[in-house]
Amino acid sequence: MKYFPKVSRGNVYLSPLNPDDYELFTKWMNDSRITDWITTWPMIFSLNWEKAWLENVAKSWDCNLAIVKKDGDKVLWTVGLFHIEHINQAAELGISIWDFEEHNKWYGTDAINAMLSFAYNTLNLYNVYLKVKSFNKKAIACYKKVWFQEIGTMHHCQYCNGEWHDMVIMEMLKPDWLEKNK
Ligand SMILES: CC(C)(COP(=O)(O)OP(=O)(O)OC[C@H]1O[C@@H](n2cnc3c(N)ncnc32)[C@H](O)[C@@H]1OP(=O)(O)O)[C@@H](O)C(=O)NCCC(=O)NCCS
Repeated sequence: MKYFPKVSRGNVYLSPLNPDDYELFTKWMNDSRITDWITTWPMIFSLNWEKAWLENVAKSWDCNLAIVKKDGDKVLWTVGLFHIEHINQAAELGISIWDFEEHNKWYGTDAINAMLSFAYNTLNLYNVYLKVKSFNKKAIACYKKVWFQEIGTMHHCQYCNGEWHDMVIMEMLKPDWLEKNK
C-alpha cells in the first residue's frame, strides 16, 4: 500500500505523501505547463531536492497531503495548508493536480473540501486564505465553486514569462464553510 486515507470527500481521499514518488514530483515540478500556474515557476527542482523535500515533509508536522483518486488509488498530486498560525487560527491553502487529463473532473473541488474539513474540524482553524494568479481562471472557478470569496488583488506582483501579473486573494471563514456544508 502506498497511500493511506486521512480525510475523504467525493471521489478522492487525502493521504500522507509517499517519498517514493520523488521522480514523479521532479517531472511535474519542472513542467512549465503546470508550474506557470503556481508560484514555483522560476525554481529548478532536482531529483535530490525532491527526494529531500518529501523526506522532510514525512518527518514534519506540515500539512501537505497527497490527493488520491478512490478509483484505482492513483495519486493526482498535493493539497496543503501553509503558514499555519494556531493562535490566529489561519492558514494559506495551496493545491495542484499535475495530470491535465484529470482536470475539470471535480477532483480539485473534492480535495479542497476534504482539506477544509480537516482545517476547520480537526485543526480548529478559522480563516483559510489563498493567492491565485489572476489569469488562472480554472483555479478561480474551482475556488468559487467551494465558496471562497474574493477579498482583494495584489497588483503587478508576479513576473512570469516576461510579463507582469496580478494575484487575486480569496478567503473562506469557518462559519461560512460549515453553513454551506450542512
Ligand atoms: C486548479 C485545479 C486544482 C482545479 O482542480 P480541478 O479538478 O481541475 O477543478 P474542478 O473540476 O473541481 O473545477 C474546475 C472548474 O473550472 C472551470 N473551468 C475550467 N477552465 C476554465 C476557464 N478557462 N475559465 C473559467 N472556468 C474554467 C470548469 O468548468 C470547472 O467548473 P464546473 O465544474 O462548474 O464546470 C487544477 O485544475 C490544477 O491543479 N491546475 C493546475 C495548477 C493550479 O492552477 N493550481 C492552483 C494554483 S492557485
